[in-house]
Amino acid sequence: MRIVYLNPSGRLGGAETSLRELLAGVRAAEPAWELWLVLGEDGPLAGIARDLSVKVLVKPFPPSLARLGDTGRWAALVGLLKASVATGRYARGLARWLGKIEPDIVHTNGFKMHLLGAWTSPRRTPLIWHIHDYVSPRRLMRRLLWPFRKACTVAIVNSKSVAKDLERVLPGLRIMPIYNAIDLQRFSPVGDRLDLDAKAGLAPAAAGTVRIGLIATFARWKGHKVFLEALARLSSGVPVRGYIVGGPIYQTDGSQWSVPELHQEADRLGLAGKVGFTGFLEDIPAVMRSLDVIVHASTQPEPFGMVIIEGMACAKPVIASQAGGAAELFGDGHDALGHPPGDAAALARQIERLARDEALRQRLGNAGRKRAEQLFHRKRLGNALLALYNELAREPVTGSEVGNQSMAV
Ligand code: GLC
Repeated sequence: MRIVYLNPSGRLGGAETSLRELLAGVRAAEPAWELWLVLGEDGPLAGIARDLSVKVLVKPFPPSLARLGDTGRWAALVGLLKASVATGRYARGLARWLGKIEPDIVHTNGFKMHLLGAWTSPRRTPLIWHIHDYVSPRRLMRRLLWPFRKACTVAIVNSKSVAKDLERVLPGLRIMPIYNAIDLQRFSPVGDRLDLDAKAGLAPAAAGTVRIGLIATFARWKGHKVFLEALARLSSGVPVRGYIVGGPIYQTDGSQWSVPELHQEADRLGLAGKVGFTGFLEDIPAVMRSLDVIVHASTQPEPFGMVIIEGMACAKPVIASQAGGAAELFGDGHDALGHPPGDAAALARQIERLARDEALRQRLGNAGRKRAEQLFHRKRLGNALLALYNELAREPVTGSEVGNQSMAV
């Protein structure tokens, strides 16, 4: 079997972390399969894939295509026009490569690659769109995907919530929800830790300080401001220090916080010295082990939320924004705590609860690890994908079949 994966970014956001686990799962199950990864940008994902014996081609997107995003109607339209000629050239190049590789299956990750995959995949080659985000709020992508929907054989989605959204937007598509997986050995309670204070350039926190971290890309909806506001609302009796781990990693225009913007907000809230900015850190399991509580604060429904299952797998108590696919991942009060998206007061209450109660932190952490072991291990993901790939490679492509949805978890 020869499978080509197409991914726009070479950096490790959630969709790329998910792809890494997917490649590892497939590679472990089928060492002899020929796996290719075409990236629209160079970055750490290239090396990670090569280490898994995946053949990697870096084909950088033209800048106009890299920057194209769903940022307002007119900006998107102008961006689209600017990008069209260069994208046409890029697509022709990609089609030539795919023609040479002759894949049995093309599996795309990320909206731009869903379109390019539909445009350039060899005829009769099954095309899988792996959809990690809600399509309905993305006006431009929604419109662009519509004419290409017939080219998609199956759409894998990361949660039942994203499946529902996609069903509404692209009716008739065959949709298969498959939960992401993680490496439960890397994301484990035992292993290296980091000095987060040093990473953030802060003096060491006093003994007994409870460390609360938000680990996320700098996408605006990841809730950095809600997190800062919640920290500012904590009563002074609780010895807490906050950490913001991550940075702006995507090239898309206007979609991210800048570092100075968040520093300013922290200063405005009087949080100087009470919150540290570590920048992007590679070893996320070590970051998690160095924290006492992990916060997920997305202000919109989160399609899945890798950080939630990563935190649970490290046996850490997680406070998650309870909406969308993220709400499918935990039982509130059982293996994590929830709070309504964007509600800084509710988030502050949950942080205080955990900061004051070490036994609760331990109980949630242990239950979270159990849940991760049951639901989010690589083998389950590998098996679900293998079954799908084998089915698609056996059957002639007839375009997308209606409905037929099953949860392959
Ligand atoms: C996207 C989604 C996020 C999900 C990740 C992996 O980044 O926004 O919710 O965890 O993909 O599926």
